Amino acid sequence: MANPIALITGATSGIGAAFAEAYASRGHDLILTGRRMDKLNAIAQRCRDRFKVMVETVSAELTNGQDVAALAEKIKSSAVDVLVNNAGFGKLGPFSENAIESQIAMLDVHARATVVLTHAAVGRMKERRSGAIVNVASIAGFLPMPSGAMYSSTKSFLVIFTESLSMELRPFNIRVQALCPGFTHTDFHEKIDIPRERQKNKGVSRWMEPGEVVACSLRALDRGKAVCVPGFWNRALLTAVKLAPRWLYHALFPHFSRDDLV
Ligand SMILES: NC(=O)c1ccc[n+]([C@@H]2O[C@H](COP(=O)([O-])OP(=O)(O)OC[C@H]3O[C@@H](n4cnc5c(N)ncnc54)[C@H](OP(=O)(O)O)[C@@H]3O)[C@@H](O)[C@H]2O)c1
Repeated sequence: MANPIALITGATSGIGAAFAEAYASRGHDLILTGRRMDKLNAIAQRCRDRFKVMVETVSAELTNGQDVAALAEKIKSSAVDVLVNNAGFGKLGPFSENAIESQIAMLDVHARATVVLTHAAVGRMKERRSGAIVNVASIAGFLPMPSGAMYSSTKSFLVIFTESLSMELRPFNIRVQALCPGFTHTDFHEKIDIPRERQKNKGVSRWMEPGEVVACSLRALDRGKAVCVPGFWNRALLTAVKLAPRWLYHALFPHFSRDDLV
């Protein structure tokens, strides 16, 4: 019998690359997407060599509707068993000062691409009455942030979208999870000019490794959990925020500067 297939977006580095290795180690063939093709091909080759699975790489710019539509067709024709909508990026700075194009790009990659690819995957999954979808959100999805309005709100969209689908698709034996990591050592922060030497535990910030985040996600998926927040400190932070009155959060959060966190 053929191996099950996992399609992972944004698998060039970080959490996506860790998902690729984890699913390959579970005997899945892979379809990996990204833009830095040299890195993506190196990860693909490592998975082929170590786990003897088939790996296809696809160059896809997820702000581009045609690339997303082509990927949706591939999801339908390959009948993927697992979809991980992981691709994403950060952008710091006040909403009014960032170009509108970069704000819309975040909406396109985090929200639009996830919706289109998920829609392409669920039809066949429902027919087969099996499948898994992981949408990589963030703890930021629970934390409104000045200078992070688009990041927090697009990740918040992913949490509610995913929880809703999780309930809708549970009768069809399809597991759907919003993975909500906190600070994780990947390429994400360097791309927004936060160098590795500043990526250390500080104040309420606790850093995790991508492999730990993915292991936590897969354990939670096996248990059918719709929302996975990896790491005790991240869960403690969200619990404190949930318990605090909203006015207090609004009063205190703007006083945290970026330097308090990283
Ligand atoms: N690192 C953290 O602290 C953290 C915390 C919470 C949530 N997350 C989320 O985790 C997910 C993975 O990020 P990461 O931390 O692993 O960062 P990463 O190492 O920078 O990986 C991000 C991946 O997304 C891809 N990507 C970004 N923009 C894209 C676009 N416009 N079109 C196509 N692909 C695009 C990148 O592709 P290329 O590199 O090939 O361009 C890369 O493969 C993201 O959704 C992020 O928001 C990260």
